[in-house]
Amino acid sequence: MEYRSINKIYYYMETVSLKKKKKGGVIRLNTGQYTCLEVFAKAKTKGGNIRVVSGKTHVMEKEARTSYYTWLKFPVEQDTEYELECGCCDVTLCYLSGNDKILETGVQYLEKEKQSGRYLPVKKEIHYNSSIREAYHFAPWKNWMNDPNGLCYFQGYYHMFYQFNPHGQKWSNMYWGHAASKDLIHWVHLPVVLAPQEEILEEPEKFSGGAFSGSAAVTRDGAVFYFTRHLEPHGDCMKQVEQQWMMKSRDMLHFTEEKCIIRKRPERASSDFRDPKVVKIGGRWYMVLGSAIEGKGVILLYESEDMEHWNYLHPLLTEETEGIRCFECPDFMELDGKYAAVGAWMRHYDDCGRFQMSRYYIGNWKEQKLEAESSGWFDFGSNCYAMQSFEHGGRRICIGWISDFYGEHVEKENGAYGSMTLPRQLHIRNNKLYMKPIEEVALLKGKSLYRGRGENIALRAIEGNAYMAEIHFSADTFFSILLGKDGEKEISLCNDESGLRIVTKGVKSQGICFRADVEKVTGLEIYMDGRVTEIYVNEGEAAGTKLFYNSSKDGCFVLQAENPENIVRAEVTLMDSIW
Ligand code: FRU
Repeated sequence: MEYRSINKIYYYMETVSLKKKKKGGVIRLNTGQYTCLEVFAKAKTKGGNIRVVSGKTHVMEKEARTSYYTWLKFPVEQDTEYELECGCCDVTLCYLSGNDKILETGVQYLEKEKQSGRYLPVKKEIHYNSSIREAYHFAPWKNWMNDPNGLCYFQGYYHMFYQFNPHGQKWSNMYWGHAASKDLIHWVHLPVVLAPQEEILEEPEKFSGGAFSGSAAVTRDGAVFYFTRHLEPHGDCMKQVEQQWMMKSRDMLHFTEEKCIIRKRPERASSDFRDPKVVKIGGRWYMVLGSAIEGKGVILLYESEDMEHWNYLHPLLTEETEGIRCFECPDFMELDGKYAAVGAWMRHYDDCGRFQMSRYYIGNWKEQKLEAESSGWFDFGSNCYAMQSFEHGGRRICIGWISDFYGEHVEKENGAYGSMTLPRQLHIRNNKLYMKPIEEVALLKGKSLYRGRGENIALRAIEGNAYMAEIHFSADTFFSILLGKDGEKEISLCNDESGLRIVTKGVKSQGICFRADVEKVTGLEIYMDGRVTEIYVNEGEAAGTKLFYNSSKDGCFVLQAENPENIVRAEVTLMDSIW
């Protein structure tokens, strides 16, 4: 476990939820209000098992598989001391769940304490207060995360599910992680929801896949989830099978059995046939799916009367650009009197060298097709993928996965791969997709570091590197803003004859032009948070997300403008942690 200072280690020891300390100073985990202990374990040798022991007499024991991780669940008494013994097992994730107020409290994660080897509770505000985690961007407790799934608002809480590998910081067989929030800003972690299929768990050397991406639709009777189950024999992605499944929930904690609703893809569609997003358009239920037909990326459209039986119609839209393996994670929405679709271009490089960009299409809904009038890049930084939107309270809000497409991730013990963008509110203006962080994000603003106008700014050591900057220009101005520096490595935002773009130096994405499609720059909102940079231009006319791994925990903001007198307002503010 890595903490920022020695004081923090001391604090961690103090905050462990202890009921009694046994004589001799043995610290045991106390279940508090929780009733279940969930452990993901893989046996190192046959017979490797997990024992949960309370007192001398009460012992629960479960065997873990050697071939793959087993998800073990132990019922536990509330307010009772236990010890977790992991005999010859690797434990990758472990938490207490099953309390009545779990939507408020979240699960209680347990981590192995280095000296004693015991599993003990760690508070999330302590865990996240680390230079290897973002302060105000959602990231899993640890290990790999990709696409946001099943985003919705349900009975007083926002829910976010996500593609999750609980066992490491690389993509692997997929589970669904789950988190909830009352305000879309502060999140609690909830129990894992979906696991890979039995075939995969039984024979991981033969198959890969799991519970792939999907969405949720909220009805009067509860929430309905749609997702892809992917099964792929190793080494032959042409033989992959992707089917669409559904399940329901009335409380977001218990889920019905899964049911296969689309077994076969349409005849002409490629074997990439996934990521169902279910939407209501004009009072009818539609599902969009990502695929390809004859080498062209398509978004396929299905319709349904009862949300269970789905009828294939045709492609909602076809992208003519070459070099796209398929659309992934499509979305379709009615917005500001127009219709918009968004989809991620799998395996595609654009003219600037950017990999796997997402594109939006805006137009009209005619004969159940999207007649696009305009289109544009969803995020010019290209570290934002698989965005998903939902509607609540009159707002169309989306979240994207902050993806590492240039192999820049630095693996640290107990670290997380992947985080989520700030929730962004979407609008269509002049046939362009606008997006800005939802207004609640401003509540995180803390101490002001700079407020002024008409001059260049040099903040070279911003402690914690979690801040936001807002700059307004009276006229288009050439500038460069240094946003991160780590020895020879740099990330900056530049505006000159070549336009507005993110420039990186000394890292793997160096040389790629992360250019924003805007004619001039009148205003910027820049959010820096550990390894994440999010830039919003001209009140949301363009958004750019870029990763920059910095070994220092301090950040910088150094703005040099050719005509500083054009800066009519500038403000740099620390941001609070959401944990
Ligand atoms: C996009 C994606 C989806 C798929 C999921 C698998 O990042 O490839 O198409 O459902 O991730 O994790």
